Amino acid sequence: MKKIILSFFIVASLFFNLRADEGMWIPMLLQNNEQEMQEMGMNITVEDIYSINHSSMKDAVVLFDGGCTGEIVSDQGLLLTNHHCGFDWIQYHSTVEHDYLTHGFWAMSKEEELPCPGISAVMLKSMEDVTERVLEGVTKETSNDERAEIVTANIKRIKEEAEANSDYQVIIKSFYHGNKYYMIYNEVFKDVRMVGAPPSNIGKFGGDTDNWVWPRHTGDFSVFRIYVSPDGKAADYSEDNVPYTPNYHFPISLKGADEGDFTFVFGYPARTNEYLPAVAVNQEANIIYPISVDLRGKILDIYNKYQEKDPKVRIQYASKHAGLGNGWKKWMGVIEGINNFKGIQKKKNFDRKFTEWALESRQRGAYLNLIKDFEKLYAEYEPYRLATTYLSETALQIEILTFAANFKGLSQVTKDTPQEEIDELIAEAKAATSVFFKDYHQPIDEEVAAMVLQEYINNQPQDFRPELLNTIVEKYDNVQAYVDELFAKTMFTSQENVNKFLDEFKPSKAKKLAKDPALMAYNNVMDFYINNVRAKTIELGNQIADMQRVFMRGQMEYHADQNPDKMMYPDANFTLRVTYGKIGGFKPKDAVTYKHFTTLDGIMQKENPDIYDYVVTDRLRELYEAKDYGRYADKDGSMHVAFIAGNHTTGGNSGSPILNADGHLLGLNFDRTWEGTMSDLIYDPSICRNISVDIRYVLFIIDKYAGASYLIDEMTIIE
Ligand code: ARG
Ligand code: GLU
Repeated sequence: MKKIILSFFIVASLFFNLRADEGMWIPMLLQNNEQEMQEMGMNITVEDIYSINHSSMKDAVVLFDGGCTGEIVSDQGLLLTNHHCGFDWIQYHSTVEHDYLTHGFWAMSKEEELPCPGISAVMLKSMEDVTERVLEGVTKETSNDERAEIVTANIKRIKEEAEANSDYQVIIKSFYHGNKYYMIYNEVFKDVRMVGAPPSNIGKFGGDTDNWVWPRHTGDFSVFRIYVSPDGKAADYSEDNVPYTPNYHFPISLKGADEGDFTFVFGYPARTNEYLPAVAVNQEANIIYPISVDLRGKILDIYNKYQEKDPKVRIQYASKHAGLGNGWKKWMGVIEGINNFKGIQKKKNFDRKFTEWALESRQRGAYLNLIKDFEKLYAEYEPYRLATTYLSETALQIEILTFAANFKGLSQVTKDTPQEEIDELIAEAKAATSVFFKDYHQPIDEEVAAMVLQEYINNQPQDFRPELLNTIVEKYDNVQAYVDELFAKTMFTSQENVNKFLDEFKPSKAKKLAKDPALMAYNNVMDFYINNVRAKTIELGNQIADMQRVFMRGQMEYHADQNPDKMMYPDANFTLRVTYGKIGGFKPKDAVTYKHFTTLDGIMQKENPDIYDYVVTDRLRELYEAKDYGRYADKDGSMHVAFIAGNHTTGGNSGSPILNADGHLLGLNFDRTWEGTMSDLIYDPSICRNISVDIRYVLFIIDKYAGASYLIDEMTIIE
């Protein structure tokens, strides 16, 4: 008896842990979570979070610029997001005279706020379940191909009908891998202006060195404002537009939070894959990621070598380095996490239990061979995944090739091509040329080219090698000899030659362009991909998706049958979600414990004027030395900078509001800890943590550091 009670207790507590932190929930369906959220400490109701009848928190959350989350913090449409989310706009508005990246930017009045052409902020107005309508006409007998056709046609029709009756943007998205469909109405704001950004040595403090890592000290925020037409509607940019009056804006808490306190995060997670079979997780984590990690590591070593030597190169390659380095570091964390957590073994155990369960009843026939079929299909898929990975992580990392790709259209011009079309192609090529050479360092590209081509040759079997690789092997002494010739003969290494060529372009020159070795190399690898890899990749991908749809349905039935209390959340798909968890540190490995918050003291400990990522400005040091934190200090007297909690977040959650038990803003989510990045595939509450910048540090920088206290006056502050 004792044993039974004990094991029940273990199971129950395990279960509780899982439910407490894991999950990205659809706000419309949050009623199911309300009791648990309140038991964990939440003081509000889910109706306060999401309501279609009256204003609620959802009216203050937006999908920011297509890839991040933002939240509204004043009744005049003031919006907060991460520095790394606003980065492109800060860079866009920066010039040598006004270098906002380096020095920061603060509009001192609304007139000084900067328009951002092409930006968007998307706000969900409502959503509804349209599964039945989307699957109308689909029966048990319908084949997968027919099903896809029916679903596409139904979605098109339903969407058109809805659009005819609404001013809002309408989208229909698949949830639970094609088992559910929701229609979402969005308001799309296009006049969003840049209001403020801290200098990069605050907004990006720690840079790529600290990226994905705890303890962290990044002031990762920037400030924007939504404008609407004078009648209050979302509109394109116009001087006549006025600040947006939202239905809701988040009050800001200056009280901070303690270990164990309830929090929730509201935002737009992009993609997770929590319901894959073991074979798929293994392919991702143990076959594909290690290749990308290895190749990117080698490229980053080359970048580093040149960046360390020359400050100009450091700036030129900063953004490229950040882009490659972000995935590189994250995937290393995924690989390690999955292996430490025995993730594949856990998945295998589940696959086995699932199959045994399927055996128990004739009605579960559809699930019986799923795991075996997955194994066959993924084995067939593997060489194609590898081919795509090698192409994108090797040949397409040669900058001169992807630059040459911008000239493909011009190389196909004939004497019959209309002049307007030619002019357009020339204009596009010119724009690409100025962007390219601003940040191009040829010695890096040459070294990368030799390295990646050698890797490509070494690691892809004959039948997955583009002709280019065979030519190199057969006609050149070695890869270096080919690379030397490529860079000696192509015109794409000289901005002057490229511009001259464009200025003098006539259709008769197209042939010569098509023979440029860089463009030829690009065409060769891409043609190979298009002719030999792409179609099969799509075909197998679709088969896998069809099987995953059945597996997902099976898993929902399995849990309904085996542990009916378990709620199942759909994988992330760039729709609005709520996740909740408690503030708390963790133990990344034996003998190591992490605390749940960092302070300004940590910034001063990391300070190093010789290392770009750790430069601290005099102004910040003065404020630190004077301990001039005003009302933004914690009750312990220090300035808190960042904190971690057990919220299930992923890419796209950057900039998301992290809220306390009363729904007041505590900070902005901006990262996860490296040890827990496997949470996109398997969630482990003991090590998965999201990282947020403390809102008090954000306000301290705005107010004390930048002197933009008029922005604070707009906000609703809870002391
Ligand atoms: N790791 C975060 C994310 O996935 C932040 C990336 C930007 N920061 C950086 N230092 N590169 O997007
Ligand atoms: N930095 C990520 C983003 O830009 C969030 C980190 C994560 O993947 O959780 O969305």
